[in-house]
Amino acid sequence: MPIPKAELHLHIEGTLEPELAFTLADRNGITLPYSDVDALRQAYSFTDLQSFLNLYYELMDVLRTPRDFTDLTEAYLARAAAQGVRHAEIFFDPQAHTSRGVDLDTVIEGLTAALDTSLARHGISTALILCFLRDRPAHEAMDTLHQARPHLDHISAVGRDSAEVGHPPAKFTEVFAAARDMGLRCVAHAGEEGPASYIWQALDLLKAERIDHGIRALDDPALLTRLAADQTPLTVCPLSNVRLRAVDHMAHHPLPALMDAGLLVTVNSDDPSYFGGYVHDNFQALHTHLGLDTEHLRRLARNSFTAAFLDPDRKRALI
Ligand code: HPA
Ligand code: ZN
Repeated sequence: MPIPKAELHLHIEGTLEPELAFTLADRNGITLPYSDVDALRQAYSFTDLQSFLNLYYELMDVLRTPRDFTDLTEAYLARAAAQGVRHAEIFFDPQAHTSRGVDLDTVIEGLTAALDTSLARHGISTALILCFLRDRPAHEAMDTLHQARPHLDHISAVGRDSAEVGHPPAKFTEVFAAARDMGLRCVAHAGEEGPASYIWQALDLLKAERIDHGIRALDDPALLTRLAADQTPLTVCPLSNVRLRAVDHMAHHPLPALMDAGLLVTVNSDDPSYFGGYVHDNFQALHTHLGLDTEHLRRLARNSFTAAFLDPDRKRALI
């Protein structure tokens, strides 16, 4: 039985399995430019973050109705439960949908229909994190935040994702301040392909409470000291880093070095359909390729509950 854990870095759009993509395409009268599931799977070969994002944005066009978002989320929750997930904090990308004519109400209605029954059906408590696209202008992120105002009881935090290099956190300082004023927590992708300086900015300018990825922190000893002292959680995604070639082989993944430096490290799947595994598969890869033993894996699982935006009662029950 997989170790009980929380998943804190998971893009719901990145859980779209090829089979479901074809089912939704059929249902919505869309022809995908792939002859079948195998041909689509062959396209899952990436050279960097952008090469993945191109397919990720292309394929999410099959998501059109609330039911599509519900089916997507329900499929993730069922798989996550089988992998030991007891709590999931789930990213979604509103701008990737509103920009193609699918409104925010549709997205949130569909996602929450699955999330609202998740604890009863799957034993997984959930939270939703609204992500701004880093490669779009800051004013568009601000518009998105205002559009989300009627839905705030369903949203716990804001984050930022999409292409990183050339899009420093500083660009979003005002948007994150506005989100905090609305009572939202803040997390931020930083230091996946981008430099350690982006992690400093995420901490100091965006007031990020967790850093998503953050592996480039190893380039900067002063940053490691800061992250360790503050116990700022890192949501690390090993299979993702290898698939997107931020790390050349799992045997060279920096996760053990980050743990050795005293950081609060968690393990997550990012976009599991695209990267070859769900969260427990990531734990397994760390065991197989880096020799992490049961004690390390249990510590990583415990860290995931420590780092979660959980209410104290549920946190106590889960740790
Ligand atoms: N990095 C940045 N943006 C993303 C990712 C990621 O791993 N997945 C989905 N959007
Ligand atoms: Zn991510």
